[in-house]
Amino acid sequence: MDAIVYTSNTGSTQEYAKLFSKKTGLPAYSLKEAEKKLPSGSKIIYMGWLAAGSVKGFGKAAKLYGVRALCGVGMGKTGSQIQDIRKQNSVADTTPVFMLQGNFDMKKLHGVYRFMMQCMKLTVGKSLVKKENKSADEKDMLDMLMNGGVRVKEENLSDLYGWYAKDGANL
Ligand SMILES: Cc1cc2nc3c(=O)[nH]c(=O)nc-3n(C[C@H](O)[C@H](O)[C@H](O)COP(=O)(O)O)c2cc1C
Repeated sequence: MDAIVYTSNTGSTQEYAKLFSKKTGLPAYSLKEAEKKLPSGSKIIYMGWLAAGSVKGFGKAAKLYGVRALCGVGMGKTGSQIQDIRKQNSVADTTPVFMLQGNFDMKKLHGVYRFMMQCMKLTVGKSLVKKENKSADEKDMLDMLMNGGVRVKEENLSDLYGWYAKDGANL
């Protein structure tokens, strides 16, 4: 493995990339930096924030580099949405996919992204408020949407690290 490459909008994905870099010694580059510094064909772990199920920057990263593992960062629970991410982003069956819970802060969003999440707050948020017997994940999602939330935690990287220590480092 040569590097971690990431795309972050409000900082969570960057935090995870830096935490994982510290844990493994792999260099971490934003996709923009990587385009200048990292030779094409390098073997990478790609991390991107999730926007409506799409892992931002993955298409471009996959053209430039050999993506050995893909990591989506979203407001959903760590480990959720993996099959959806795989399907929506057309990830090869042989590439492991991970999902990490990041932060959410409406104030950090601008333009169309802010508009989309304000709509989501109104629709999903409203129906979650009404829903009886909410699961712990639904309560967390509602809290994130209504109040924002800080969820980046090193322990969320444990599955990715487990894969890296067993197989990933030598790929
Ligand atoms: C327009 C938009 C769409 C989003 N779609 C999803 C989604 O499909 N699934 C999810 O879990 N989180 C979704 N999120 C939440 C972000 O992925 C989450 O806040 C993430 O931590 C942002 O990462 P960043 O801080 O690196 O930008 C969305 C956020 C925005 C602004």
